[in-house]
Amino acid sequence: MSGDDGAFGARLRACRRAARMSQQDLAERSGLSVRAIGDLERGRTRWPYRDSLYRLADALELRDGARAEFIAAAGRRLARAPDAEVAGPAPGEMRRRSGGRVVPRHLPAAVPGFAGRRDQLAALSRLLNQPGGAAVVTAIGGTAGVGKTALAVQWAHQVEAEFPDGQLFVNLHGFGPSGTPVTPGDAVRVFLDALQIPADRLPRTEEAQLGLYRSLLAGKRMLVVLDNARDAAQVRPLLPGSPTCRVVITSRSQLTGLAAIEAVRPLTLDVLTDAEARQLLQQRLGPARLAADPDATTQIISSCAHLPLALCIIAARAAMRSDLSLARIAADLAARPNLDAFA
Ligand SMILES: Nc1ncnc2c1ncn2[C@@H]1O[C@H](COP(=O)(O)OP(=O)(O)OP(=O)(O)O)[C@@H](O)[C@H]1O
Ligand SMILES: [Mg+2]
Repeated sequence: MSGDDGAFGARLRACRRAARMSQQDLAERSGLSVRAIGDLERGRTRWPYRDSLYRLADALELRDGARAEFIAAAGRRLARAPDAEVAGPAPGEMRRRSGGRVVPRHLPAAVPGFAGRRDQLAALSRLLNQPGGAAVVTAIGGTAGVGKTALAVQWAHQVEAEFPDGQLFVNLHGFGPSGTPVTPGDAVRVFLDALQIPADRLPRTEEAQLGLYRSLLAGKRMLVVLDNARDAAQVRPLLPGSPTCRVVITSRSQLTGLAAIEAVRPLTLDVLTDAEARQLLQQRLGPARLAADPDATTQIISSCAHLPLALCIIAARAAMRSDLSLARIAADLAARPNLDAFA
């Protein structure tokens, strides 16, 4: 094969059609833009860049002789510009990563002394048997501080071994004081960074970046945690779409729009049970302090409305003031039910 003018474009079009892919499909799988593919097929771009050539061959799943012919059709004059029309790792680099040498482990630390939630952890584990499964962890009434993030992170740590290709985590800032929600474009750049795509090799358009993200996750056993999502529109572009991946989303909203379309498993959290709340306090304050005043413990749990966030704040303050009895703390809390009691 000579690499004559137009030969590569014709070969690319023939291979794409044989694989029954549209230009859009090929763009998503390869990480190239639709325009770059169209320009190559029409011969407007005569020589593909080396990275692009191998990405196309991978995306078209060309093997052996067909792959060799495809590569030969590009000729010897492969363009070698450092900024290829779609940048990204060289194929060897990708393979090294998929060989497991660089595995993103982006989870925050597990909550120390995580209490209860056995049924909810088991419900999340059912995702493992659901190819491409996703779960949305929400709270009854959209409650803040009920433990959505803590549950997702705890589970993700528990099942770490199920995801040898890694875990991605992003806080989408959908709710809360931190201001503006993160856009899907910003989130995907966080993920591509975690997947070690250097900034100067990012595809130019957001669409191509999302395509590259999905290509990198295709066939990988990876967990994606999308924390604190605002709405379905923010989340949908970030779903990897590969049956080998799993996704856990947390949100104060029910994200019903997403559930309708993507068949995600809803998991609605309530506040802690009595026993779970007691376990939370015991893990932070020690059994002796609780046993010294069981009634006070009950009162504190009730003043905190069984809400993990409130219980953690009170437990942290009680831990700093070991001179105060729990009875005193419970009385202060009853008198000043806002959480700045004995601050
Ligand atoms: N089961 C639990 N055991 C121990 N601590 C917990 C548990 N659940 C939550 N917490 C603690 O309670 C606090 C609030 O939890 P978390 O941040 O997960 O709430 P959230 O529902 O994600 O809130 P938001 O809607 O603001 O995102 C955190 O400090 C967390 O560590
Ligand atoms: Mg949260």
